[in-house]
Amino acid sequence: MGKKRASGSKKVQLVGKPSALVDTRVIYCGDNLDQLKKFPDGCVDLIYIDPPFNSNRNYEVFWGETKEKRAFKDRHASTQAYIEFMRPRCVELHRVLKKTGSFYYHCDWHASHYVKIMLDQIFSENQFQNEIIWQRTSAGKPIYRNLPKNADSILWFTKSDQYLFTPIMQPLTEADKATFASDDGDGRGPYNTQPIINPGDRPNLKYTYTDLTGREWSSPKTGWRFSEERMRQAESENRLAFGQTTIREKYYLREREAKGKQLSNIWTDIPIVSGEEKLGYPTQKPLALLDRIIKASSNENDIVLDAFCGCGTALVAAENLGRQWIGIDMSPTACRVMAKRLRDVCKMKEDEKLWRIGRGFIVRDLPWTEKQLREIPPFEFENWAVIALGGIPNKAQVGDMGIDGRIYPVSATPKKQEGELDFMDLWYPIQVKQKDKVGRPDIDSFEAVMMREDRTKGFFVSFDYSSDAINEIQAFFKRTGKSIIALTVKDILEEQIAHKLA
Ligand SMILES: C[S@@+](CC[C@H](N)C(=O)[O-])C[C@H]1O[C@@H](n2cnc3c(N)ncnc32)[C@H](O)[C@@H]1O
Repeated sequence: MGKKRASGSKKVQLVGKPSALVDTRVIYCGDNLDQLKKFPDGCVDLIYIDPPFNSNRNYEVFWGETKEKRAFKDRHASTQAYIEFMRPRCVELHRVLKKTGSFYYHCDWHASHYVKIMLDQIFSENQFQNEIIWQRTSAGKPIYRNLPKNADSILWFTKSDQYLFTPIMQPLTEADKATFASDDGDGRGPYNTQPIINPGDRPNLKYTYTDLTGREWSSPKTGWRFSEERMRQAESENRLAFGQTTIREKYYLREREAKGKQLSNIWTDIPIVSGEEKLGYPTQKPLALLDRIIKASSNENDIVLDAFCGCGTALVAAENLGRQWIGIDMSPTACRVMAKRLRDVCKMKEDEKLWRIGRGFIVRDLPWTEKQLREIPPFEFENWAVIALGGIPNKAQVGDMGIDGRIYPVSATPKKQEGELDFMDLWYPIQVKQKDKVGRPDIDSFEAVMMREDRTKGFFVSFDYSSDAINEIQAFFKRTGKSIIALTVKDILEEQIAHKLA
């Protein structure tokens, strides 16, 4: 372990394009299998993936702090189907990984054992480096007839033996320090000892050692850990402790404190996401976890790829650590959420012109045609429409009372003056229907929402409207003075294209 990457020939870097092979600082929206096929071989340094688990049921996605749920389809009917889904994607990920690269697969007990076998077949068993056990939470409420399942598994594979790895060092705990119980009073301070026996068989280190008093120590079965020369050196520095039957090496607290101790594969010190970091994206992983993986297995300016990137935790961690990054997610909502996060947290600009000169980032392949928008899941469609209008999607789907999002007009002042309306009260409801033709009944129910909420204006988005629906919108305005703006997907797309060209 701890092999350093063989230094290759000097990298030629283009301005704004740290890799001649792939574009970085890009979020791709789409199925990663299709996206990865466009990548060349051996172009990324580190891959982390956290695919949806094989939970074999529909699970619920909680957005924000609301109790409300959206059904998030877990498409894998069985472990077999899950592995079949993941296998071609992992084959592609293996292909795009550099020879010196590492691959981390985040999963849990549902499928980890099957995933390990699949990855052994793709990467080879010899390239399995470790299984990291990440303890997500401390034990919660007691459960009966089982142990609480509080850990995830992160399987680490490398493409070859020439992988990069920087050991993760941590400060000694008080308990660690307490084990340094001996002291020779020679000013070197407390020390502990460990045997100089080789853990594996080392025929070339089997010799009889004669110490400075002339006592002979026959070789342990597997050999010594030190060469004879090193043993002699250590003895002359008073770094050997001679017991009844074995020789042990002394190691000093002072030295260990300076170096720290190496973190093992059991990670218990990273809590689940909470507080400000929490975006409400289901399955969001903590930045600290990604920080650790990225620091251990990449250097500055290396390329980190997350092909199931959710709300972009790996991308934010990579950016903060001065790495290049590429994200892929099939959900347009996830792509928008992570773009916002990169703008807010990393202060990056989402701007094609800046990106071309090596700054900022871009999102590619967001659904951009009517045909694509007809095919995305309904809640993705709602989010797309609301965000396209500059609104805020309603987090609460149950009990949303017919409102999919809200627009807060820019004229609304954030300061509440005495006697004025709270600015948060200045909003317009948005209703979205992924329908070919919205009819009169849909408009009737939106009118009821506008009356109930006492809104003067509301927005409706769909693919088209029946003439009955349009007539009703006009009649509603005449009756109440309240206007419903009926927008089609085509209107929004044309508007966005107009903005893009402007
Ligand atoms: C468990 S979440 C990842 C969470 C992420 N680690 C984070 O911290 O935010 C899995 C993500 O994979 C995406 N996904 C599922 N299947 C995909 C596919 N075939 N291609 C690309 N993304 C996919 C989902 O949209 C979801 O956002």
